[in-house]
Amino acid sequence: MPPAETPQAESFPAGKISTADIVAAVRGWHQHARMPIFADPYARLLCGRFLGFAVRFRPLGWFLVKVVLGRIMPVSMCVLMRARYAEQALEAAIAAQGAAQYVIIGAGMDSFAFRRRDLLQRIDVFEIDHPVTQQKKLKRIRRAGLTVPARCRFVAADLSRVAVVDALDGSGFDRAQPTFLSLMGVAYYLTPDDLATLAGSIARNLAPGTRLVIDYLLDKESSNPAHLGIREKTLAFVKARGEPMRSEYSTAAMNALFAANGFRAVENFAIEGLAPSYRQTFGRLPFEIPGLFAFGAFEVEPRGAGASQA
Ligand SMILES: C[S@@+](CC[C@H](N)C(=O)[O-])C[C@H]1O[C@@H](n2cnc3c(N)ncnc32)[C@H](O)[C@@H]1O
Repeated sequence: MPPAETPQAESFPAGKISTADIVAAVRGWHQHARMPIFADPYARLLCGRFLGFAVRFRPLGWFLVKVVLGRIMPVSMCVLMRARYAEQALEAAIAAQGAAQYVIIGAGMDSFAFRRRDLLQRIDVFEIDHPVTQQKKLKRIRRAGLTVPARCRFVAADLSRVAVVDALDGSGFDRAQPTFLSLMGVAYYLTPDDLATLAGSIARNLAPGTRLVIDYLLDKESSNPAHLGIREKTLAFVKARGEPMRSEYSTAAMNALFAANGFRAVENFAIEGLAPSYRQTFGRLPFEIPGLFAFGAFEVEPRGAGASQA
């Protein structure tokens, strides 16, 4: 289990290249692919000057991908796949459940507001992020000359200190409206207690039927033994960037955490299992899908139906 350190706002990496920048650059670089797994033409504008340059100037990008990040690049598959998974689940929730609000928790450099003007005709979007990351993003949006759609709001909050629902108060968010939330690329950086608190406050305060999608690090026992080397290198890489991973789970442990906090599991699976369908859709994949991560979709149960909704 990675050490459970409590993040401090003061120690959040400001200034240097963050994991939010790196995953945006991964999405930007991936746009050179013949058939992108996730189309994100704005990623290169939002990943920062140096990485944005590397995405455009192929020799430098190639050096970063092959040499600097070479050993951990298979992890980029999870970055692309989670973006695709979250938006497919959102579209399903809008169609089937009439979701009218989308809360992107730990949005990082997600360009949803600019890419999905089609969905912004129908839903309100709330981007929650650590104040340090969000300030950086807003600066980049201005620099790129992008216009933020009226239905997109930015909410700054350190989730190790403030509950998601409390952070949303005053932003125009309506607790009674059908809502879809994504927590992609974030659970890693929260302790299990932080995640349980986050889930519990959503279940207690938002309407039954509210859905949340999440990706997370599998514990060592649930990981593919052949990929444990990539796992160790990834943990060391993010720790060196000042963003240590603070949690890991089996799929059963993640189901139990959400069940104890007012949710039922819609699905919860290791992403490696998606390899055959991805190969069918995209042909040869840029990297093997690492057996280190899982995706889950959880739905708020009617009050009183869960195991313990204290
Ligand atoms: C790796 S990025 C993920 C960005 C994006 N969701 C994605 O999937 O690519 C992690 C995000 O979690 C946010 N984050 C980490 N710890 C946080 C905290 N304590 N409070 C709020 N946001 C946090 C970071 O600011 C960053 O935007």
